[in-house]
Order: sequence, then structure tokens, then C-alpha cells
Amino acid sequence: MQEIPVITVDGPSGSGKGTISRQIAHQLQWHFLDSGALYRLVALGAIQNGIGLDDAKALAKYARELDVQFVSHDPAEEPVILLDDQDVTGDIRTETCGNAASKVAALPAVREALLQRQRDFRQLPGLVADGRDMGTTVFPNAELKIFLTASAQERAKRRHKQLKEKGIDVNLAALVKDITERDERDGSRASSPLKPADDAVTLDTSVMGIDEVMDKVNALIANVVPATS
Ligand code: DC
Repeated sequence: MQEIPVITVDGPSGSGKGTISRQIAHQLQWHFLDSGALYRLVALGAIQNGIGLDDAKALAKYARELDVQFVSHDPAEEPVILLDDQDVTGDIRTETCGNAASKVAALPAVREALLQRQRDFRQLPGLVADGRDMGTTVFPNAELKIFLTASAQERAKRRHKQLKEKGIDVNLAALVKDITERDERDGSRASSPLKPADDAVTLDTSVMGIDEVMDKVNALIANVVPATS
């Protein structure tokens, strides 16, 4: 039996992987996995339930039992995310939650607890998986592996613009520092560090717009997905 196809899109935050991977899923009408949201949910749940961000055992238990629903009608749009039936769509996107997610994501027990849940997203007609270790650990046999990257300065600028649009004014230099620290933590952890799979195609989006990246991505997709999909 043929495996259900998967395209993985990995990279650091601000590399454009969220936008690009959602667009691919929308185009192909495939399922979408936002694996970062799962780590963010574990972090948020831990904060809300008074679980220490270094308490690996309690965090892994919480991660295994995570009661989450992604309510989505179109993978191009961000879904409404329900944690224990509460809408936490905005709560998980804060800088505080992102930093906490990066900490809980460094714990092997938490990663292990979320592994099968991520693999369960692999359903027909196919899956686009967005994260840090989609191509290396979660879906090592994916049809196509894309690794998006961009300079810390450029990613900080993008984040700054996003936050400004939301009415949040953050110092750019502080964002560069924050992003560099998070890169360091995500890239140096022993368990599934952020790095391209050996067979991934790396695209640097520092000086490319979304359309240009999508043109390159579409050329790659055409090699692995029949045009009828
Ligand atoms: O993509 P994001 O910013 O929503 O991810 C939040 C954190 O979760 C990020 O700091 C790293 C971690 N993460 C991870 O370790 N592995 C993944 N597959 C996805 C995210």
C-alpha cells in the first residue's frame, strides 16, 4: 500500500514557513499540521495549570493528554484553537508563550509524548507539516522536505511589523536578541534540534518575497505531486 504523501516545511520562526506551508496545503487541498502550536499549547497549559516548565514528567503527561481541537475550514487560514474547550487562538501566539514553548520543546519526554499525535495528522489526500523537526524526526520518509531560513535581522523585522500591526510596540534590537537566543536554544538542544534533513531543499527567504518563494516551492512540488492533485 502506498503511504499517504507528506511535504515537510521546517525552519526558524520568521522564516516564512507558516505562510508558505499554509499556502501549499491550501493549493493541494491537503491537511495541515502546525506542530509549533502543539508545543505552544503544552506551554500555555503548563502555565495555566501551575506545571513547572522544567518538570519533564508532568509536562509529558500533560502533553499526552492534551485536549485540543483545531477548528478549520481552510488550511490557508489560521484555525480557531480550543484547549479544554476554551478558545486560546490568541493566547498561544504571545512572545511569553513562544519562549515557554521553546523551553518545553527542549525536553525529550515532551517531544516523545507529542510524536504520535503529530503522525496522526497524516491523512488522505496528504499532509503539509510545519515545524522544526518534521523532515528529520516526525516524517523522515516525506516526499518533499523544504527548509526555510532567513537572517535573524530580517526575521526580527518581520516579527516587529507583525506585532506593530497588532498595536504592540516592541524594540527591534530586543527582538533580534530574543530571536537569536531562541535559535540558539532550538538549534543546540540534544533532542531533535532545528536543522535541515540531509535530503531537504534549503531556501533562504531573506531577500525573497512570498511570491518568489512560492514559485520555487511550486517547482519542487511539481516533481513529487502529480498535477491532478
Ligand atoms: O513555530 P513556533 O514559533 O510556533 O514554535 C514554537 C516553539 O516550539 C519553538 O520555539 C520551537 C518549538 N518547536 C519545536 O521544537 N519543534 C517543532 N516541530 C515545532 C516547534
